[in-house]
Amino acid sequence: MDASAAVQPGRQWAEQAYEAIAPVYDDFTAHHNYELWLGELLPELRRHGLQGDRLLDVGCGTGKSFLPMLERGWEVTACDLSPSMLELARAKSGDAVQLAVADMRELPEFGKFDLVWALDDAVNYLLGTEELGNALSGMRANLAPGGLLMFDVNTLFAYRSFFAETQRVERNGRCLLWRGQGSSDAPPGSISEARFEVEPAAGEAAPVQTHVHRQRHFPEAEVLKQLEGAGLECLDVFGHGFDAVLKQPVEELDHTKAVYMARLAE
Ligand SMILES: C[S@@+](CC[C@H](N)C(=O)[O-])C[C@H]1O[C@@H](n2cnc3c(N)ncnc32)[C@H](O)[C@@H]1O
Repeated sequence: MDASAAVQPGRQWAEQAYEAIAPVYDDFTAHHNYELWLGELLPELRRHGLQGDRLLDVGCGTGKSFLPMLERGWEVTACDLSPSMLELARAKSGDAVQLAVADMRELPEFGKFDLVWALDDAVNYLLGTEELGNALSGMRANLAPGGLLMFDVNTLFAYRSFFAETQRVERNGRCLLWRGQGSSDAPPGSISEARFEVEPAAGEAAPVQTHVHRQRHFPEAEVLKQLEGAGLECLDVFGHGFDAVLKQPVEELDHTKAVYMARLAE
């Protein structure tokens, strides 16, 4: 890895990656369809007794994961490691959402929430099981009695494909390049990297510095152990592919994501 991709002293990998990608994040993920995804997930949460209207969105990024809930009349508090991602979330939501810079490994108690979630593989930026356990404990501390927790993690299939290949997205005359550095046989629990770079539009200065995204795969057994250790009871685990249709059990080599739903353990 060359010096331009090395982590700057005092900054976390994930913070550095999202500070860098923020200006083009929404362009790069324009195809992520939250209505489709939440259309599958919300009925399952309701089946597990989802009530109330207070959401804490952990790792909210530019707000794509909380905007559909704001539109449904929920009261939203949201946090992220990256101030630049939060600025974009603020531009979309104004004063309607309480936004804070926070690291999910040391999550403050923002209040008591009916639903706490961390969506679109935010949790995979934690690079070890202890970090995952700390994040889950922090999310637990923000749950109201009867509240529900939901998060997704990328499967092995995602690391063996998206993190092992190059994706090109053309937007506004720019080419956004995700260059997976991983392996098509990445083992369970391994860390994969991708380099992100932008070929600017004609006559434009580079809008984004080349940088690295680093994620860890979390096998189901590890996640279940950390949930239990954090005082949470796992209610359901679903796998799904690009169509977002929920399936059980999770197929690590077929589905792209695994979604966990949990509540306070009794
Ligand atoms: C793939 S984006 C998803 C953003 C948003 N949830 C969505 O669905 O569009 C992952 C987000 O997780 C955030 N993140 C990564 N590690 C984090 C940490 N330790 N604490 C808080 N946020 C973190 C990143 O800054 C980034 O905004």
